[in-house]
Amino acid sequence: MATARFIPPHPPRGAGPVPTWRGLFGERARNSVFGWSEQAFRVPHMKRNVIGWIVHIPLQPDAVQQVLQTNAANYAKPDIVKKLLDPVIGRGLLTSDGQLWRDQRKIVAASFAPAAVDALVPVFARVAQNEAARWQSGETHDLAAIATHTTMSIISDSLFGGDPRLTTPAAMAHIEAALTAASEARLTAMLGLPPIPYSRAIRRGQRGQKYLRQTLADVVRGRLPDGGGDDFLGILIRALRDQFDSAEALALAVDNTATFYLAGHETTANAITWTLFLLAAQPHWQEKVAQEAQAALSTADPVDQLPTLRRVLEESMRLYPPVPRFDRQTLATDQLGDYQTDPGDIVSIWPWLLHRHQDLWDDPDVFDPDRWLPERRAAYHRFQYVPFGAGPRICVGMRFAMKEALSVLAHWLAEWRFSPASDRIVRPVGTVTLRPEGGLPLKVERR
Ligand code: HEM
Repeated sequence: MATARFIPPHPPRGAGPVPTWRGLFGERARNSVFGWSEQAFRVPHMKRNVIGWIVHIPLQPDAVQQVLQTNAANYAKPDIVKKLLDPVIGRGLLTSDGQLWRDQRKIVAASFAPAAVDALVPVFARVAQNEAARWQSGETHDLAAIATHTTMSIISDSLFGGDPRLTTPAAMAHIEAALTAASEARLTAMLGLPPIPYSRAIRRGQRGQKYLRQTLADVVRGRLPDGGGDDFLGILIRALRDQFDSAEALALAVDNTATFYLAGHETTANAITWTLFLLAAQPHWQEKVAQEAQAALSTADPVDQLPTLRRVLEESMRLYPPVPRFDRQTLATDQLGDYQTDPGDIVSIWPWLLHRHQDLWDDPDVFDPDRWLPERRAAYHRFQYVPFGAGPRICVGMRFAMKEALSVLAHWLAEWRFSPASDRIVRPVGTVTLRPEGGLPLKVERR
């Protein structure tokens, strides 16, 4: 069926380059995807001086590949990011480098191997069904909040033995506050200042961080000394105990509990939310994937029978990457295309810009799941689409996240129809992750 081109909302873009200082104030400081000019989606590379920091943004896939894969050893996690995230996730997998990173990656790898993830599909399905069992046909719900509660429950049930402390409304509110504050705190950190609680958001964020850290430390202590089970947390506690002294093993167990709890649910919730937003706006695509889901759910291996839904999800993560940017810091001088990176320089990888770049995609702002048909996707460079990162530090939870999102979406779409609850324009807001501002109210109707 021929359909009209659909361009889902993105922040307005000016024509010329935006002065760097503009990023320090107002909407641009609060929302990382706001305020980019047209030019940012056309140039091969941006190099800026942000209050004394040299920041590179490579926008050619070969250069992205060099940073993330070919010369990955030369690009570490930035000190400033580590400092910022230290109060919550310490030196866990996401924020460590070198041997400590390698040791931890090895420890968790088995829990995310294909068979281990497949074994969790029934958990994904059960949580999705329980969540939808609360809906009445015709009601309006905030699907962003519901997706977050769903993925929180999934992480808690599949990795942490279903500990009820991980899914309380208080935990949800504190996480949101901590993520919002992280963006503002970035500015203070870049200025080289200690984390001054200069705004209400930052004070709320600090309270959120403290609550989370204490709650997660309690969860870990409750499992000592032997891990108390064969789930992810049990295996993690025992493996750390075997490799590190007891104080270090305990610290790393709490760091990784926080890392996997946070990295493992907020991102997938956003992927589910943006996919539902796009499907609510494009009913003919929604009908197609709903029928596919109904057929797939009657088979033994439903998640592998959802090729169209998978394409919609991939397109959703192209247009609204759940992690809109991630950073590295240069260790030794290197050359990225025409640009030299020097020790200390920040290199920012921006899925938000790469995924909508004019040189890399046809009609980049248009929602077109068919661009992921096998014959078309074969033409893309591996490093022009990086919602999960790439190279040795690619998201360790990628397979988990894809199966989880497909599973939750299939269960909801097979039984429910989603439509916009109002004509309010949904605005994407980038902090550490990319969320719809004010949530995503959708009307749900039983099929
Ligand atoms: C749609 C969902 C997800 C997205 C878009 C996403 C995205 C990412 C990205 C972009 C990175 C790389 C960051 C970098 O290179 O600096 C990353 C790393 C990571 N992700 Fe995910 N993620 C998702 C789901 C998950 C899930 C479900 C888990 C765990 C259950 C998880 C755990 C991690 C961890 C621990 C790392 C650090 C890996 C390392 O440095 O070795 N993520 N993720």
